[in-house]
Amino acid sequence: MEVTETFAGMSLPGHLHTQESLRFASSFQFRDTDVVIATYPKSGTTWMQEILTLIRSKGDPEPAKTIPNWARAPWLEHTYFKDMLQETGEPRLITTHLPCQVLAPALRKSKAKVIYMARNPKDIAVSFYHFHKMAKFLPDPGSFEDFLVRFLDGTVQYGSWFDHVKGWLSLQAELGLFYITYEDMHKELGRSVEQLAGWLGCPLQPEQIRAIQQHCSFSSMRENEMVNYTLIPCEIMDHHQGRFMRKGTVGDWRDHFTPRQNMLFHKIYQEAMRDSSLCFRWLMD
Ligand code: A3P
Repeated sequence: MEVTETFAGMSLPGHLHTQESLRFASSFQFRDTDVVIATYPKSGTTWMQEILTLIRSKGDPEPAKTIPNWARAPWLEHTYFKDMLQETGEPRLITTHLPCQVLAPALRKSKAKVIYMARNPKDIAVSFYHFHKMAKFLPDPGSFEDFLVRFLDGTVQYGSWFDHVKGWLSLQAELGLFYITYEDMHKELGRSVEQLAGWLGCPLQPEQIRAIQQHCSFSSMRENEMVNYTLIPCEIMDHHQGRFMRKGTVGDWRDHFTPRQNMLFHKIYQEAMRDSSLCFRWLMD
């Protein structure tokens, strides 16, 4: 039976977060050497965690071989990672799904580097729907139609995608955040890795970039138990219901959305984003 926490106007899985862990996150003392990955769920967070680990090791897969991704880049708002975050040596990799209004005050006090990764919300809705079926800490999604309505309303767990992306990107200049999309990485992983590494002040040789591309390809990550979540017991993630590393494609929404759902999506998207100058060229892909 899933339990829900409410924080900053959004619902969150109570098995992963408590009021205490959420307050800990919102008053967290970032260090200048921290690198923070901020994403809405299903945007490619795990992919980014793995890439950043490998950028730091200059393409050497060794540090990623024995430690699962969640221990290398712990979730800030997660009940179980508080000690790990405080005890870990510098520089830390930190992951969060929290909206920017919760973290901005703490981030403004440091020079932590923030990476915001976005993904076509249509593909996120599909991926999130399938994830709800396997993740026992999330509510039963019902039909895709029902889930999509809640996703567009912003009443799913972790709140509105629209608010998340608009909020974080409104701070792009102020926080100097690095913005990248799942679709960019899918199209040109090597180039994305090179840009990220340059921005992090950790330039790489071409062979190091190739090693990262190989290690972080969908086919490699799908078989890698340090990132594919198969180490998580079935009571928490039911691996009989599907795989965390599900498809790893761009445009899977086409196999799920009816023409009517697509029209509804665009109508709500236009309304929700009309006060924003953000332009996602991939929305029509
Ligand atoms: P799909 O469900 O569409 O396959 P997150 O880590 O934020 O929860 O995102 C999970 C999504 O990222 C899943 O999408 C997963 O398959 C995809 N993903 C993870 N690693 C990937 C990789 N190396 N290449 C492409 N997609 C990847």
